[in-house]
Amino acid sequence: ARHVRPGRYELTQRAAKMEIIPGTTTEVLGYGGTFPGPTLDLRRGSRVTVAVRNELSVPTSTHLHGGVTPPGSDGYPTDLVAPGGGAKDYDYPLEQRAATLWYHDHRMDFTAPQVWRGLAGMALVRDDEEDALPLPRGERELPLMICDRAFEEDGSFRYPSPPGGGHSGHTGHMAAVDGDYMEGVEGDVILVNGAPWPVAEVTATRYRLRLLNASNARRYRLRLAPGGRFTQIGSDSGLLAAPVAHDELPISPGERYDVVVDFSAYPVGSAVTLVNTLADGPARNVMRFVVARRAADDTAVPAVLSRPPGRVAPVTTRRFDFRRSAEGVWAINGHPYRPGVPLARPRLGTAEVWRLSSDFHHPVHVHLAHFLVLARNGRAPAAPDAGWKDTVDVRPYEVVDVLARFDGYRGRYMLHCHNLEHEDMAMMADFEVI
Ligand code: C2O
Ligand code: CU
Ligand code: CU
Repeated sequence: ARHVRPGRYELTQRAAKMEIIPGTTTEVLGYGGTFPGPTLDLRRGSRVTVAVRNELSVPTSTHLHGGVTPPGSDGYPTDLVAPGGGAKDYDYPLEQRAATLWYHDHRMDFTAPQVWRGLAGMALVRDDEEDALPLPRGERELPLMICDRAFEEDGSFRYPSPPGGGHSGHTGHMAAVDGDYMEGVEGDVILVNGAPWPVAEVTATRYRLRLLNASNARRYRLRLAPGGRFTQIGSDSGLLAAPVAHDELPISPGERYDVVVDFSAYPVGSAVTLVNTLADGPARNVMRFVVARRAADDTAVPAVLSRPPGRVAPVTTRRFDFRRSAEGVWAINGHPYRPGVPLARPRLGTAEVWRLSSDFHHPVHVHLAHFLVLARNGRAPAAPDAGWKDTVDVRPYEVVDVLARFDGYRGRYMLHCHNLEHEDMAMMADFEVI
């Protein structure tokens, strides 16, 4: 990214060669020619224009995930930037709380392969409320984009060829889809910020880790080995009211956790591994921290972190059923994606209960809106559901009630499964804020 002047970033999408697996070359599709793209440093209330120029050979659409963004800049899947030099100025007013966001491609039917090949990056929104807290910062604040990939011998990304000859999953040709693609594509190499199984040298102090699951389909249950706790300070949509301690964190595609880990709890010289207890073999390890030396630490995690927006009484309840249809395609309320046909028309400034149900793991993501998880199968949600979010893993045969607030802008937005293969197979719907 070239931060050409305050308020304007230039982000050119280019193909580039990178060394991801040592000794091999991977061609990536990168924002700014890198994978991941540059981390955008943004500020609440400081409107920015991100000028995207597409020098790739494929169309793109860029979405700021977690952004409260006017509809024309939200990355609608058919609002394409043409290959070979097309350009679009995305307008991000950033009238929203400090939070860990990310941006990625959202092209109709091709989001999964294009994100897999590199079109994703992180974006941090900061604000005065957060700046006033004594949290770790600078080198002790680590944005960690976690994703899995598969590679060919020569280092190129391995991604299954589109099923059924064409990629539009709208036609019901899903019989041709092999099981792996149907459930979402996973890789056997875990990357953090684009590097396989990296090692970070840390001091024996607190660190703020901004965890993002940018995988197409892989879920993680993160733990620290040989032991230790995550102190969660924020969720998808900003700081929690108060910190919450966790031994492990389930994180599905699209979700973020903002946590503090205190490395003074480990002996100097020891290694602390971030592991995924849902996986076996090499994919079990995510990354490693090596506690190099003692250092002064004047940070703290205050008992009161912020005043998140409160609950508003819902004006209605709507149901969205994420399920394989009778024709065998991933659908919402029985329909594969129909662009321009909104399934709901919530009113600006109101809140609604959205009842999300599912047959499989579907990480459900809502654009524009932020929501609180109210209940899972009628029971109070567990600690990892705390705080305002934009993505929630709806598990097999679960019914998840969320309280969604529609603030910001009127217009056309989307909700979809963030398993990107499911999204490309049309598990997506429009809604219109009126
Ligand atoms: Cu992160 Cu509509 O997606
Ligand atoms: Cu989004
Ligand atoms: Cu899904």
